[in-house]
Order: sequence, then C-alpha cells, then structure tokens
Amino acid sequence: MTAYLRDHADDPAAPRRGHTIGFTLDGEPATAIEGQTIAGAILSTGRTSWRTTAVGAEPRGVFCGIGVCFDCIVTVGETRDVRACLRRVREGDEVCTQHDRLPDTHEEARA
Ligand code: FES
Repeated sequence: MTAYLRDHADDPAAPRRGHTIGFTLDGEPATAIEGQTIAGAILSTGRTSWRTTAVGAEPRGVFCGIGVCFDCIVTVGETRDVRACLRRVREGDEVCTQHDRLPDTHEEARA
C-alpha cells in the first residue's frame, strides 16, 4: 500500500485547523491558531521582522526556525529572550518585541 491509496479524509497526518486563541502583541490584540508558535503567529500578521540588532539596528525575525540563532527573541509576560520559533502561543500571552542596545561600557566604568 502506498500513501497514494489512503483516503485523504482518513489521513492522520493531514493538517487540521485548530481553534483560534487570543494574545497581545505589543499591547495590540492578536490571534493565533492553537499550536502555532509565536513566530508563526507574528509572521501570519505579515511582519517578517520584530526586533533590531544591538549593533547597526538591523531587522531580525525568523532565521533558523529551530531555536539555534536567537534572532527571533521576544518577551512573553515577564520573561525576556523567549525564542518565538520554539514557544507556542498560549491564550492570553502578552508578547512584546525586544529592541536591546549594547550596554554603554563608559557608563558602566563610571558606576
Ligand atoms: S529563528 Fe533562530 S532561534 Fe528562533
């Protein structure tokens, strides 16, 4: 038997649409499909970048998509540096984008 003989309606691997859940993105109401990652939910809004690099303020969003590069980090509630490509959206999540700059080493030296 090959996969071509399986009835599509009985295919356990067929994509199923979950129900919609709500969260906020930078204080604005947003929705995601249950099981969707934060990155997927942000991308579905049409945004391809949601933070900037500390050096050069270059735009970043999803690069690796597997939790390696940390380009996609966001703040979820009180937790900073959450990898959006790994974390699934939960109902009521408060997701904020991060725009960090490098510490001013001259100020640190004076302190
Ligand atoms: S996109 Fe690389 S860690 Fe999320």
